[in-house]
Amino acid sequence: MSGYEGFRVDRDDASGVLTVTLDDPAKLNRVPLAARGQLAQLFAELEGDDAVRIVILTGEGENFTAGGDIAAFMDATPEQLSRLAWNIAAPERCPKPVIARLRGYCLGVGLEFALACDFRVAADDAQLGLPEVGLGMIPGSGGTQRLARLVGLGRAKDVVMRRRRISAADALAWGLVSEVVPAAELDRVVERVIADLEQLSPLALRMAKRVLNHVYDAPLSIGLELEGLAYGLLRSTGDFAEGVQAFGEKRPPKFEGR
Ligand code: COA
Repeated sequence: MSGYEGFRVDRDDASGVLTVTLDDPAKLNRVPLAARGQLAQLFAELEGDDAVRIVILTGEGENFTAGGDIAAFMDATPEQLSRLAWNIAAPERCPKPVIARLRGYCLGVGLEFALACDFRVAADDAQLGLPEVGLGMIPGSGGTQRLARLVGLGRAKDVVMRRRRISAADALAWGLVSEVVPAAELDRVVERVIADLEQLSPLALRMAKRVLNHVYDAPLSIGLELEGLAYGLLRSTGDFAEGVQAFGEKRPPKFEGR
């Protein structure tokens, strides 16, 4: 699909990596309202796209994004705004691993989008924040909920209600990002995450993501039951058998995603 507004998509079928780049650097990669639905649609389509194994979400140039297109919110109906969270949760629903590659400003919907990804790696110049209350709004794409669950209610209130900007160092200390490196090394870190994921069974990764996301807020007893069922389901796959056999033969496994 072409005609994306405010972002572009580059796919490398040889490596199975698809990169989504917010690409309006003159406007600090602000996310147009239309882009949200387009991004959700794109992530949904990836489910049946076997050539894509891993997705990277990033911004062109020195920033991820300064957030949603502020003026455009006045063109949306209250009902449209109330659905924004569904669109920005698309990386979470996508069965493939999604890596957020963060630089510079990572504000508003930028942080919310990153929170819906599986892995977040950042350059040391990254600044994360949810400044919406300064506009008379609140973070409306999952930010209040995912941030609080990830870093705790107290820290989330500091960010949402005082507009505290989170430095890359604090983001690392809070567990909000998994790695922080100088900007020049960011691609190398992303490559390393990709290399780690490429060695693994896509089936097992898909199931792990599903279990981790879906039972995150379920009671422990339900979570454990679903985990057990998912584990049992994998037992009948070729990748499970291959993993066990390769270990026994002291060789790297060759997973086929079946
Ligand atoms: N929506 C729409 N346009 C935006 C934007 C956003 N979220 N963030 C930046 N821009 C635009 C600016 O309007 C400006 O456009 P112009 O050159 O046509 O005037 C351009 O991007 C550069 O931004 P500018 O504000 O001049 O850069 P700065 O370095 O002085 O400040 C920020 C950077 C990030 C502090 C500032 O742009 C800002 O506060 N942005 C909004 C952050 C926000 O509230 N995000 C949540 C939105 S819900």
